[in-house]
Amino acid sequence: MIITVTSFKGGVGKSTTAIHLAACLATKRNKTVLADGDLNRSVINWFERGGEGLSFSVCDGNSVPDDYDHLIIDTAARPTDEELVALAETSDLLVVPCTPTTFSLEATIGTLAVLPSDRYKILLTVVPPKPSREGDKALSALKKAGLPVFNTMIRRFSVYLKAENLGVPVSEVKDPKSPDAWADYAAVGKEIAKTVRK
Ligand SMILES: Nc1ncnc2c1ncn2[C@@H]1O[C@H](COP(=O)(O)OP(=O)(O)O)[C@@H](O)[C@H]1O
Ligand SMILES: [Mg+2]
Repeated sequence: MIITVTSFKGGVGKSTTAIHLAACLATKRNKTVLADGDLNRSVINWFERGGEGLSFSVCDGNSVPDDYDHLIIDTAARPTDEELVALAETSDLLVVPCTPTTFSLEATIGTLAVLPSDRYKILLTVVPPKPSREGDKALSALKKAGLPVFNTMIRRFSVYLKAENLGVPVSEVKDPKSPDAWADYAAVGKEIAKTVRK
C-alpha cells in the first residue's frame, strides 16, 4: 500500500510519523520503502545520522523503486489544493498529522475540504500529557464534525527528540518512555491496516 503523510503546518510531526509508520509496517516478509518527498530532506538526514539495522529502506522522492509492498511518503508542508488531490489519487491513504491546537485544527479542517473523506485520516500528534485534555477535546471535536480521525493519538514524549538526534526510531532509544511512544505508532499502524484492506 501507499501511505502519504501530509499537513498544512510544518513542525506537526509529519517526518516523525512517516519514519515510525515505515518502522511499524515493515516486517521480515515485506519490502517497505520510506520516500523523502520534502526538499528539507529531514528523513534522509535522519537516516544518515543513524539508519543501521533498519527493516525498511529510505530513498529520495524522485528515485522510488517499483518493487515495494509498502511505500510511505513524507512530504513538505502546505500542499496546494491540486497537489493534495494528486497525492490522494496516488495513495491508498493520506495521513494528516495535526497538533491539538486551534490554529492547527482550523488549518487542517479548512484545507481538507477539497478531499473525499475516505481518502484521508487525521492523526493528532504531540498531544500533551494528562491532566491536559487538549487531545481528547480535539478528538471529539473532529469526530463531532464528521471528519475521519485516528482513535489513537500520538502523545508528546521527549524520547522523540532523542530518537531524532540519534537517527533511529523511538523503539531503539534507551528511555523509560520508549515503549509507550512506540505503542502509539504501532496502534496507528493497526488502524491503517484496518482502514486500507490490501
Ligand atoms: N509526539 C512527539 N512528541 C514530542 N516531540 C515530537 C513528537 N513528534 C514530533 N516531535 C518533534 O517535533 C519536531 C517536528 O517534528 P517533524 O516530524 O520534523 O515535523 P514536520 O515534518 O511536520 O515538520 C521534531 O523535533 C520532532 O522530534
Ligand atoms: Mg518534515
